[in-house]
Amino acid sequence: MPEYCVTGGTGFIAAYLVKALLDKGHVVRTTVRNPEDGGKVGYLWEFNGAKERLKVLKADLMVEGSFDEALWYAYAKTTAEKEAWRIAGESGMDLVVVNPSFVVGPLLAPQPTSTLYMILAILKGSRGEYPNTTVGFVHIDDVVAAHILAMEESKASGRLICSSSVAHWSEIIKMLRAKYPSYPYENKCSSVEGDSNPHSMDTSKIAQLGFPPFKTLETMFDDCITSFQQKGFL
Ligand SMILES: NC(=O)c1ccc[n+]([C@@H]2O[C@H](COP(=O)([O-])OP(=O)(O)OC[C@H]3O[C@@H](n4cnc5c(N)ncnc54)[C@H](OP(=O)(O)O)[C@@H]3O)[C@@H](O)[C@H]2O)c1
Repeated sequence: MPEYCVTGGTGFIAAYLVKALLDKGHVVRTTVRNPEDGGKVGYLWEFNGAKERLKVLKADLMVEGSFDEALWYAYAKTTAEKEAWRIAGESGMDLVVVNPSFVVGPLLAPQPTSTLYMILAILKGSRGEYPNTTVGFVHIDDVVAAHILAMEESKASGRLICSSSVAHWSEIIKMLRAKYPSYPYENKCSSVEGDSNPHSMDTSKIAQLGFPPFKTLETMFDDCITSFQQKGFL
């Protein structure tokens, strides 16, 4: 049975991946910055098989400084991936990259991080505005399944775009308001321009590997909101 390493195991995507790999019976190593932080790391130990097959290691990338997300996020991601390809090329590593769009789904951790935190703030109207962006969205289940495909399918190679429908945030809010009218929602669209162009994402590569149709926008947001309700965040 192979042993897998998932970095940043307390993260939204990573924790789901750790859970799925343990469920499949694998031995999993994961890294966190502070293994002693029970509030952040403790829930990983509750996954099935964790006590027998999970190893939590301490690691900090020590990325210097912080940067403006709007300006630098895409640049940082591109640079990081290019570096991964360079290292893989030099070392002969069999690298497969999963490129998810904006990930949505139920909350697994005790507290929402990253994308789920943003969705919660938009639902509660506590952000001041919603982003003026048109993005692809994808269910966390599909992101986990894509990673496992990348790990287990020997035909998988290169970059696997992992995304369901593309929508502007105003369309997401409209969809949610119709179904969940009681939440206050953000009403004001950000004035920041440049990321609202309609586009599509080519997912034919992962489909050719036998990946099933992606879960819909409605399903991913329903699953997310149900978990917020169950955990008392809404
Ligand atoms: N969520 C999305 O929609 C989405 C879409 C596409 C790509 N991605 C990318 O996928 C990755 C994971 O996303 P996510 O949403 O799951 O993130 P997340 O929930 O915000 O978790 C981030 C993780 O990174 C770890 N971390 C932060 N700084 C670190 C450092 N200096 N050294 C080591 N670990 C550090 C944190 O670990 P600690 O517990 O140690 O703080 C945390 O577990 C990110 O690279 C993100 O850009 C995310």
